[in-house]
This record gives sequence, C-alpha cells and structure tokens, in this order.
Amino acid sequence: MKVLGLETSCDETGLAVFDSELIDTDNQGLLGQVLYSQIELHALYGGVVPELASRDHIRKLVPLLNELLEQCDITKDDIDAIAYTKGPGLIGALMTGALFGRSLAYGLDIPAIGIHHMEGHLLAPLMSANSPDFPFVSLLVSGGHTQLIAAKGIGQYEILGESIDDAAGECFDKAAKMLGLEYPGGPNIAKLAQTGKVDAYALPRPMLHRGLDFSFSGMKTAVHNLIKDTNGSESDPQVRADIAASFQQAMVDTLVKKSIKALKQVDMNRLVIAGGVSANTHLRETLEIELAKVNATVHYAPPALCTDNGAMIAYAGYQRLQAGQSDDLAVTCVPRWPMTELPALLPML
Ligand code: KG4
Ligand code: ZN
Repeated sequence: MKVLGLETSCDETGLAVFDSELIDTDNQGLLGQVLYSQIELHALYGGVVPELASRDHIRKLVPLLNELLEQCDITKDDIDAIAYTKGPGLIGALMTGALFGRSLAYGLDIPAIGIHHMEGHLLAPLMSANSPDFPFVSLLVSGGHTQLIAAKGIGQYEILGESIDDAAGECFDKAAKMLGLEYPGGPNIAKLAQTGKVDAYALPRPMLHRGLDFSFSGMKTAVHNLIKDTNGSESDPQVRADIAASFQQAMVDTLVKKSIKALKQVDMNRLVIAGGVSANTHLRETLEIELAKVNATVHYAPPALCTDNGAMIAYAGYQRLQAGQSDDLAVTCVPRWPMTELPALLPML
C-alpha cells in the first residue's frame, strides 16, 4: 500500500510516499520524500507569518508533488491513499494541505485521512525494522509542544505532564535569538555549544521537584539576565559558546530528569523521543547514558524524521487506514487538538 503524506501545519511543506512493502528495508518504508522549508521567507520578520506560510504552501504543493512522483518513479495512479495533517497548527496552512490532499484523493477515487501532527511525530521513531514495541513513554519536544505521554498503543495516549508555558523548542529558539543566532535556533545553539563549557554558567533546572509538568519561560529570562550580566562580552566567541553550552545542558538535564521520573511513575522501561528537539545530539547521548543506569532504553528517529516532514504523516496515515479509518469528503482542520481525543486503534489495555 502506497500512502502519500502531506505536511503543511506550519512553515515546512513536506511530502512523502510510504510504501508498506518496503517496511522492513533500510529505507524504513519510505519510497521517497521532499521537503521545502520557508525559513528564508519568514526570516525577515523574526517568526512565522501565517498568511505568508499559507500562500507559499499553495505555491509549492503541485511542483513538490511532481518532484516526489518523479523521485519515486511512480504516477498519481499508483497512490493508494492520502494522509494530510489536520491539526494542530496554523489554520490557513493546515487548510492548504488538507484541501489539496482531500481533493486529490477525491479525483483519484482513493481514501483520505486527516492526521494529528503530534501523533505523526510520536510514531515517526517506529518507522524502522527494529522499532520499539508499545507500551512506552514518549517525550514529545517540538517548537510548539513539550509533553510526556504514556503510549499504550496507537491512539491510546495518556498525558503525564506538559509545559505550562513555552515549549522546549521555543525556548531554544528564543535563547538563540538573544545570542543573535538565526531561526530555527535549536540546531544553531547545538552547533555553538560544541566548543563551550557546560558548567560555565549556572542556569535553572525548572520545576524538577514539581511533578511531570515543565516550565521554560523562566529559563528564557535567566538567559536574558545572563547575557546582560556579561556586560557586552557575549560577542566574545568563547563566552557565546559557554552560554550556549550551559543553556543546552540545563535544557537537557531538565528533559532527562523528567523523562526518568515519568518512566518510574508508570513503571515502563522504554522512552521514545520525538519532535524537532529530539534531533539534538547532546539530548540523545545523555539519555542513552542516564537511561542505561536505570535499565531503560531510549529510541529515536533519524534527524530528518524528527523535524517536520511528510513521511511521519504518511506513516501515521498508513497505520490508521490499515485499521479501517478514513475521513469523509468534508474537510475539517483542527488548529488546537488534544491528542487524547484521537480514536484508539485497538481496545484499551
Ligand atoms: O517538530 P518541529 O520541526 O516543528 C514543530 O512541530 O514545532 O520542531 C521545531 C523545533 C524548533 O524549535 C527547533 O529549534 C527545534 O525543533 N530543533 C532543535 C534541534 N533541531 C530542531 N532543538 C535543539 N536541538 C536541535 N538539534
Ligand atoms: Zn512538528
């Protein structure tokens, strides 16, 4: 079964074809994928401009689809179903992919399904031959979400904790901006941190002893104050690298400690990390070390499948279509959509 996946929830136009016949091969079921990032379009404004995002998705969807079909060496008629991101995200941006996907499926007389963007992230690490089995705890860390979820199966999600203010990725982006680094800040902070000392500056590990919720707005203020206290020396390359490394360490410590706490709370020993921040090498390496100490394992997707992409939507779509689910002709997008509202694929355990 070949499923075309369309991701347009924010500033990335991602398209991919997942082919279930390739599931056990090295390419993780992926027949092909294309991704166009609007970063340059929004850079001038210092953040994503929703109307510009929608218009650009519209411009890019058809050429990208043609490029993808050529890459996969197939025609539109070879596609068996279409999955598109239905939410959460920017309403205009979501509508472009949803309307495009739904209409194309109607024209081709094949099923279509709207997918939850965060479920796409959560399932992406499962797209591999040796993927972790359910149940597991998922640490979802993206630009808009920070959540710890007990996942007992597809659609069986219990939120154990989440950020009460900024998301982890958002905090990386804001800290990067204060250091004069470009958006998206996460990868740029990670690069700068490579030459810095992780304990050069003391930064908070917020809410460590308060359940499984996160709060990152104080971290942002702490970085702001730290830069102010350096009295202009943040232009010194070593000071900048030290600030980046100390900040990254504080974020990683907080995410790691809360993840271990979550595993203990639900008595599970597998952690699956997903979303843009899960591409962070220091987070991955620290989790490998710390989880081994408590006899738990960490699982993650290749970096290209951590940040927004069409493959994760195609894969989540495949799973749900396989279980007999699909959407009717009405196109409904849901900009705010708790994952706990998703239907389960199997009876609750
Ligand atoms: O999942 P994603 O691509 O989009 C959303 O759904 O939000 O996540 C984007 C976020 C951005 O905040 C970006 O700075 C962060 O993921 N990110 C990283 C890294 N790569 C992307 N954060 C830390 N380290 C990275 N290597
Ligand atoms: Zn995302």
